[in-house]
Amino acid sequence: MSVLARTTATGGTIEKRGAMVEKYTIRAAKPEDHSKIIRVMPDWWGGRDLTPMVPKLFLVHFHTSSTVVELENELIAFLIAFDSQSYSNEAYIHFVGVHPDHRGVGIGRHLYELFFERCRTVHRTIVRCCTSPVNRASIAFHKRIGFSLEQGDGEIDGIPIINNYNRPRDPKVRFRIDLETRPAPAEG
Ligand SMILES: CC(C)(COP(=O)(O)OP(=O)(O)OC[C@H]1O[C@@H](n2cnc3c(N)ncnc32)[C@H](O)[C@@H]1OP(=O)(O)O)[C@@H](O)C(=O)NCCC(=O)NCCS
Repeated sequence: MSVLARTTATGGTIEKRGAMVEKYTIRAAKPEDHSKIIRVMPDWWGGRDLTPMVPKLFLVHFHTSSTVVELENELIAFLIAFDSQSYSNEAYIHFVGVHPDHRGVGIGRHLYELFFERCRTVHRTIVRCCTSPVNRASIAFHKRIGFSLEQGDGEIDGIPIINNYNRPRDPKVRFRIDLETRPAPAEG
């Protein structure tokens, strides 16, 4: 199943295709979304508490480039992303999360495609993100979206990693996609 998009980068609805149709609301994030996001993160990340990596400043200073999805006012998904201040042709996706009961229907892909669409309009053609090597679902997801894995200074189970990324013994897998060489997805 996939989601049927009826959205713009700032708002709209998406529908899940299939026997049961659920209409999701999609909109730009707001600073007030921070508390809702923090509340669900440990559950959505399978008990891992990554909330210290999402301080409120991301929702204060980067909310216009970040997105939330809701169903009847319940948070269903979020994407926290921003334009690089250091590299004028790059953007960065910091965090993406989809409610466990709503995974596998294309919401994560849809959030990425919306962000890519926005990136193209502001001439940000390289998008980067990173994840932990233990997060195999995230690695599989990013590969399906079309990201390549960047070379690092080590490998875990054949996955290239960079060791000691944020601190000692904190390996990360880094992803990159070039929107100029990746064709836009077909309509319909
Ligand atoms: C990773 C995550 C965001 C994926 O969201 P999702 O809405 O379920 O993903 P989608 O349904 O849009 O899937 C997009 C593609 O990725 C693939 N994919 C998604 N999850 C996958 C998994 N666990 N294993 C293998 N492939 C997967 C899908 O098959 C789909 O492929 P297709 O479009 O070619 O058919 C979601 O599982 C999640 O929130 N995980 C917990 C938080 C997390 O780890 N975030 C990422 C790091 S910040």
